[in-house]
Formats: sequence, structure tokens, C-alpha cells
Amino acid sequence: MRRSFIAVAALAAFSMTLHAADMDSTKAEGIKYIKMLGKALKTEMKAHMKKDPSGLEALAFCSGSADKITNEVNAKLPEYAKVRRTALKVRNDKVNVPDATDKKVMEKFEQEIAQKKLNKKTIEIVKVGDTTRVYKPLVTKKVCLKCHGTNLSPKIAEAIKSAYPNDKATGFKEGSLRGVIVAEIKKH
Ligand code: HEC
Repeated sequence: MRRSFIAVAALAAFSMTLHAADMDSTKAEGIKYIKMLGKALKTEMKAHMKKDPSGLEALAFCSGSADKITNEVNAKLPEYAKVRRTALKVRNDKVNVPDATDKKVMEKFEQEIAQKKLNKKTIEIVKVGDTTRVYKPLVTKKVCLKCHGTNLSPKIAEAIKSAYPNDKATGFKEGSLRGVIVAEIKKH
């Protein structure tokens, strides 16, 4: 009796360890894909902002190519994986619209920012069916304010309006949650 209890307990502990290890590797894989997209966008953005500090050129570039870059990064991932960006207030409502799970996670991140609990390592993991989602928060930095802040230059405001007539992604403050990058990893 006792021995079998120990055996069962040991087995349970072992399978929990396995499960945790599994989660850790999925998390690491997700973070890798998140970084790939983050880096690809950041590199381009930086180069364009340097060329034209007003942000106009970067904006033109972003309007035409953010989606394309995202697709290019996805083409490099295994077929069971995908990476994308979303937000509670969205600029590109053709591709970046959040679903219910995205919204819940972002609301949680916003609370964590308010409670000063969010940090550079914050990651949220959620299972949706046979897919594991890995979420990384994107906090608004000073450089983001040119295109997502409150007092946009008239030229930027005009360019945004013509490319994104339904834009909701302005009025952000430094330190607030701008959105997330999410990696989705299907069971495989
Ligand atoms: C030069 C203007 C510009 C700057 C600076 C900028 N963005 Fe954006 N951002 C855009 C445009 C344009 C889009 C829509 C891109 C698309 O079509 O996918 C966008 C979209 C996004 C999205 C996807 C969700 C959505 O609203 O469609 C996130 C997240 C985002 N930006 C975060 C940031 C962060 C964080 C920074 C600062 C590190 C930043 N942006 C700086 C112009 C800018």
C-alpha cells in the first residue's frame, strides 16, 4: 500500500517535472520567435528614423512594410509556429486585431504596469486548445511617441490618417502598454 503510494507520488512528481520542462522549452522557443520579429522591425525602424528624424519616412516605411516583415519572419519559422503583434488600441485593423485571449493578457499587463510589477522579463503563457501562446509586453518608449503619442506633428498625423483611417493607436504615454508580440506554438 505504502510502496504503491510512493510510486504514484513519484510518478506524479516526475510527470509534473516533465510538463514543466516542456513548458520551459516552449517558452524559450516562443521568446526566440518574438525576438526575431522584434529585432527585424526595430532594425528597420531605427535606420529610417536616423535618416529622417521627423518620423515621416519611417512611417511611410512602416505603413508599407510592417506586415510584409512580419510575413517574412513567419516564413522562417517551423510550420507549427507563428508570431504577430497586437494591441488594445490598434492602428492596423486589417491584421493586428486582438482576440478575447489577447485582450485578457493585455489587461493583465496594464494592471501589472499600474502596480509596478511588470519588468523586462515579464512573459505570459496561455494555452488555447492545442496551441501555447507566449506573450511579451511592448511598453511605450519615448521614440514611439512620434507616431503613437499625444501631440503628433501635423504631417505625421495626416500621413497616419490617410493610411489608417480607423487608427486608434495614439494618445499613449511613455511607460504605458503599447501592445504585445505573441508567439503561437501548436502542439507538434
Ligand atoms: C514612425 C512611426 C512609428 C513609430 C516611431 C512607432 N510606430 Fe508603432 N506603428 C506604426 C505604424 C504605421 C503601425 C501600423 C503598422 C502595420 O501596418 O502593421 C504601427 C503599429 C504598431 C503595433 C501593432 C499594433 C497596431 O496598432 O497595429 C505595435 C504593437 C506598435 N506599433 C508598437 C510600437 C512601439 C512599442 C514603438 C516604439 C518602440 C512604435 N510602435 C513606434 C508607426 C510607428
